[in-house]
Amino acid sequence: MADLDDVKEGKDFGLDKPVEVKAFPVRGSVSLDWGMQDRLARIFQPKSGRTVMLAFDHGYFQGPATGLERLDLTIRPLVPYTDVLMCTRGGLRQTMPADSRKPVVLRCSGGMSVLTELSRELVAVDIEDAIRLNASAITTNVYVGAEYEHQSLANLVKLIDTGNRYGIPTMAVTGVGKDMVRDARYFGLATRICAELGAHIVKSYYIDTGFEKVVAGCPVPIVIAGGKKLPERDALEMAWRAIDQGAAGVDMGRNIFQSDCPVAMIAAVRAVVHDGESVDKAYDIYKAGKAKAA
Ligand code: 5RP
Repeated sequence: MADLDDVKEGKDFGLDKPVEVKAFPVRGSVSLDWGMQDRLARIFQPKSGRTVMLAFDHGYFQGPATGLERLDLTIRPLVPYTDVLMCTRGGLRQTMPADSRKPVVLRCSGGMSVLTELSRELVAVDIEDAIRLNASAITTNVYVGAEYEHQSLANLVKLIDTGNRYGIPTMAVTGVGKDMVRDARYFGLATRICAELGAHIVKSYYIDTGFEKVVAGCPVPIVIAGGKKLPERDALEMAWRAIDQGAAGVDMGRNIFQSDCPVAMIAAVRAVVHDGESVDKAYDIYKAGKAKAA
C-alpha cells in the first residue's frame, strides 16, 4: 500500500522561469528519440562534442593482421584511453572486459574477405545480438561505385531500419574499392548518400583537397578512418586537419595499434581531437609518452 500520510502539494513551479530547451549537440540529431540521443551522447564526449573511436574490426575480412594477432595483448591495454570500442561481436566478447564502461560501435557486416570482392558484404549480426551486447551504435560498409554497391546500400538501409526500431544509431563506413579515386567528389557523394538514407554517423577517409566540402555536404557527423600506417607526426597532422575542417572525431585503427607506442599515440590523438592541440604539441605528447614507456 502506498504511504499517503505525508503527501505534500507541490508549490515551487518556477513560474518566473521559462522551461529550458537544451539543444542536442550532435549534428543532425536534434529530432531523434531520447534513447538514440543517449547512445550518441555516449559516443561523442560532452565537453568537445567529438570522439576518439578505436577501430580493431579489421580481422573480420583480413584475419590476424599486423597488430591484431592478439586483441588481448594489443588492444586491451588501450581500452582505458579510448572513447569508443569499434569492433566485431567476436572480438568484443572474446577479449574485451565488459566492465570497461566504454560504448561499443558494433561491426554488423561481413561475409567476404581480402581474397574475394570486398563490396559483397551481408548483414552479419542480428539486431537482438547487438542489443544483448548493449551496442551504442551499429555499423556496416557502403561501397558506392563498386560491383556490389546496391547490396551494400541495402545492408545499410536494413541496419538503419532495425536500429531505428530499438533506438540504436547506425554508422555508415564509406569503403573504397581498389580502382576508385579518393577525391572530394567521391567522398561527397558517398557520405551524402549514407546520410540521406538515414545514417546517424558517417565514417570517411580524410583527403587533402576538398575535405571541408565533404563535411559541409554531410548533415550528420563525419569521423575519419586512419587508413594505412603513417609516421606518427603525419597521422597526427591528418587528424588535426580533419578536425580543423569540421570532422567530429576519428575512428582510427592501424595508426594507433601499429604505432611504436600505441598508448602514447592514442593520448596524442586525444589531445588533437578533444583539446584542439597543435600538431607540434600532440607530437611532443607522443614522444614524451613513448620515452616514459621505454
Ligand atoms: C574496415 C574499417 C576499419 O575499421 C577502418 O579501416 C579503420 O581502421 P584504420 O584506421 O586502420 O583504417 O572500417 O572497413
